[in-house]
Amino acid sequence: MENTRASLMFKTLAVAAIGLSATFVMLVRDPSDTLFGGGYPELWRRTGLAGAPTRAAACIFAGVFLLAMGWLYRLLFAPLELLRGVDEVGYIAEDGRSRAQAANEVRRRRKTGELPPVYPNGWYRVLDSHMLERGDVKSVTVLGQQVAVFRGQDGKAYVVDAYCPHLGANLAVGGRVVGGCIECPFHGWQFRGVDGRCVKIPYADKVPEFAKVRCWPSCEINGLVLVWFHCDGLEPSWRVPEQSQITRGEWVYRGRTEHFINAHIEEIPENAADIAHLAHLHTPGIVSGVDLRYTNSKTWEFIRHDWKVEWKPEPEPNKHCSQMLVKHALTVFGRHWPLLDLDVLARQVGPGVVFLLFEHSFLGRGVIMHCVTPVEPLLQCVSHTIFYQSSIPPLVPKFILRAECIQFERDVMIWNNKTYISKPMLVKEDSAIQKHRRWFSQFYSENSPRLRYQHDTLDF
Ligand code: FES
Ligand SMILES: [Fe+2]
Repeated sequence: MENTRASLMFKTLAVAAIGLSATFVMLVRDPSDTLFGGGYPELWRRTGLAGAPTRAAACIFAGVFLLAMGWLYRLLFAPLELLRGVDEVGYIAEDGRSRAQAANEVRRRRKTGELPPVYPNGWYRVLDSHMLERGDVKSVTVLGQQVAVFRGQDGKAYVVDAYCPHLGANLAVGGRVVGGCIECPFHGWQFRGVDGRCVKIPYADKVPEFAKVRCWPSCEINGLVLVWFHCDGLEPSWRVPEQSQITRGEWVYRGRTEHFINAHIEEIPENAADIAHLAHLHTPGIVSGVDLRYTNSKTWEFIRHDWKVEWKPEPEPNKHCSQMLVKHALTVFGRHWPLLDLDVLARQVGPGVVFLLFEHSFLGRGVIMHCVTPVEPLLQCVSHTIFYQSSIPPLVPKFILRAECIQFERDVMIWNNKTYISKPMLVKEDSAIQKHRRWFSQFYSENSPRLRYQHDTLDF
């Protein structure tokens, strides 16, 4: 609603600007006008060039004005979309190597260590709801598998295996939504989203019972399309809770970021229990950037973030959840700015979803949905989607998301280049890490897939 109003205002301003510029250009006919107060040279008059410089200047001015308006509109109203490529963050590309070369080298050379299983049981995000319109089909890789995500004409989102069981065409590449079904682009078989059953074979009299595509248990909540994975095919044993402010439309979408991380999935949530790293990695002000070679530079020393953190698992019946309570304070030139104190509750629900709930006296309330989805055994897609009180100017949540993204990218540089240590050398103050590992182990079961070879990954 608010976005529609803003966009209407912008369109009105743009039309007014174009109208004014056009009028101005048309009015510039007289050679004795603006630029040449004393009249044009005779030659210009004869060749018909009189008035042209002013008209050109007016056109350039109108163009620049429109560009500036567009930029201002995006800054003030449009959601922040920060989508990082697989090799874009956290690698050091030196000696003339490209970022992709640096990333591939790190992946090839890395010692993976003794890893836990690579795909824990749980709910994982496949897409944000707004990315899937009615009738859309998207191809997504989750947990090493290709899936087709589509939204039926009934408005429901469905997730099925991408490869058609008939002859293997990819349903997400050229497939078409027909009612609540997806139609294969190769021979036109139609599969129902609800249960994967084939309901139509255009050239056959009868559809055999066994004609079926695998259908993933899925749900749509808090603006996310999620799938359930269990290595033994068991049904979901818990649900991702609803954030009612999102459903009621009180908190609205203000942007998202996406990163690909070259690490085992468990490294990412373990960060919440690694309390000591906050005081080291995340203390330098966000102005000092994300490249860990420079974040401790003297130039930005005057601005520091202070963190007080506590991590604990939740008791039954929510033992699949854990909580990190964060108290953030900002100091500038050693002076604490209480107005910028921020409390965050990070509630992890299963291995793949975290609710980062913000509460601030005047900056308002909102949530960042932090989702980790394994793409391959050692490649995680991490998305942060922010929903914020609709009454707060979008610039505020966009700034929060951007700031969070800077801190997160520092972790990315660590994760992308580290190895997993199954028996780490810990001190007493690191005890939450072991607790976290015990808590996280509930998402593995005997048949959870393991990494077979160190190079069980693809090059970027
Ligand atoms: S491969 Fe899909 S219908 Fe033939
Ligand atoms: Fe961190």
